[in-house]
Amino acid sequence: MGKAGKTLHMILLICSMLNSSLAKSSIYNVVEFGAKPDGISDSTKGLLGAWKKACGSMKPARIVVPQGHFLVARAVTFDGKSCVNKAISITIHGTLLAPSDYTLIGNALCWLNFYRVSGVSIHGGVLDARATSLWHCKISSKTNCPIGAASLGLRNSDNIVISGLTSLNSQMFHIIINGCEKVIMHGVKIIAPGNSPNTDGIHVEFSSHVTILKPRIRTGDDCISIGPGTSHLWIENVACGPGHGISIGSLGWDLREPGVKNVTVRKAVFLKTQNGFRIKSWGRPSSGFVKDVHFENATMNDVQNPIVIDQNYCPYHNHCPNQASGVEVSDVTYKEIHGTSATRVAVKFDCSSEHPCQRITLEDVKLTYKNHDPQAMCNHAHETALGIVQPQISCLKNEAVDVISKIYDFARLEDEVDFLTTQSEQERQKMKNIKLGDVFKSKEIILAFLVGAGLQVPETKGLTFDEVELI
Ligand SMILES: *[C@@H]1O[C@H](CO)[C@@H](O)[C@H](O)[C@H]1NC(C)=O
Ligand SMILES: *[C@@H]1O[C@H](CO)[C@@H](O)[C@H](O)[C@H]1NC(C)=O
Repeated sequence: MGKAGKTLHMILLICSMLNSSLAKSSIYNVVEFGAKPDGISDSTKGLLGAWKKACGSMKPARIVVPQGHFLVARAVTFDGKSCVNKAISITIHGTLLAPSDYTLIGNALCWLNFYRVSGVSIHGGVLDARATSLWHCKISSKTNCPIGAASLGLRNSDNIVISGLTSLNSQMFHIIINGCEKVIMHGVKIIAPGNSPNTDGIHVEFSSHVTILKPRIRTGDDCISIGPGTSHLWIENVACGPGHGISIGSLGWDLREPGVKNVTVRKAVFLKTQNGFRIKSWGRPSSGFVKDVHFENATMNDVQNPIVIDQNYCPYHNHCPNQASGVEVSDVTYKEIHGTSATRVAVKFDCSSEHPCQRITLEDVKLTYKNHDPQAMCNHAHETALGIVQPQISCLKNEAVDVISKIYDFARLEDEVDFLTTQSEQERQKMKNIKLGDVFKSKEIILAFLVGAGLQVPETKGLTFDEVELI
């Protein structure tokens, strides 16, 4: 079969598979269970009725919400605990409306809550939480405003697909993913005004293998926020702004807290956001950590803090005055990040004094501020810069000290270098001003030591030997 023939064959095969699965799946239209597309009648019972039927069916099931506005006047939990069905798809053509009286759902965790479900997919649809009046209550700092509900919650669930969903004007976060495994989100749109309080777009925590592709997010808080216990998170092709950017944190509020690891964000465009990529932890003791994070290929347009690690977060100096964060940040790379900063300090690494950031790598980072070089601010960070990095980062040399002291330890072990064998503080201080060339006679010896100490050869890290010797 030729290539075209093969493709045609594949398409026919997929079509026939789709047909047979559609033919076999039962369809439950919420209108048949009492939902009304008039925007006034409460359709909660209709949704729950269709859910119950789908759950109880052994065959793949499709729940359909047709065109129109369906009021869901209270917080609803789609509980999967007693579902026998592991293949429920929900197709939403219309809009689900929250009650106009925000108090009716304002103290619930989530307005629409999927709990303990497995194998659920949601396609299309608009969730409109209509939260303007709650934000006004919050902004006017009245004390009796409820916290607000997240519009969509996925909790303690696995194998979830959400595609083409739109969330409008949530009370609190738009979408929460908590305690989940294997979630794929594709083409989700999130919209709320830039000044709406706490309306984070997508919040992920205590979850692994979550993939978020092509989200379009305009909101009043973080576009995507990543909480404790998140691992193997993949985010690609993001448009964010207005909003507070993509944020790992705030972490480290709790003394015992699971860490965040293996997070990749690729291809992101930020427009007039407060932050680009942010890692943030409370200035409090904690067992939390952040490691193996890759921020790649982003464009910053007029972003206030394009790259920021803030480990001294302590608003109003409450609950954490003068404490260092226990959260250890390590192995974070920033690669191919270009664009404009709205403030002079485009890169800020303000790490924990007790747990300095380790192995922060910047490669091909080029940011400008009003057509000039911006500045970098750097505290307690050990990092490496490769290729063009603009602004230049002042604590690059800390990495060099780190490398030198590793070589020093190695040398001491081998008893190669006499004058370095004392461990006095004075000698250690002297280390900081030492050039590699003073210690080792030739390039070859330096190379041997680096390789022997399990360190990367400078040339593979984009540094020349001359530069290393200058450090
Ligand atoms: C990191 O997460 C991705 C998914 O986002 C996964 O494919 C990859 O295997 C993970 N890497 C490690 C080392 O666990
Ligand atoms: C980064 O993005 C630019 C434009 O968006 C694209 O041309 C380039 O190939 C991307 N690089 C990588 C490594 O994906």
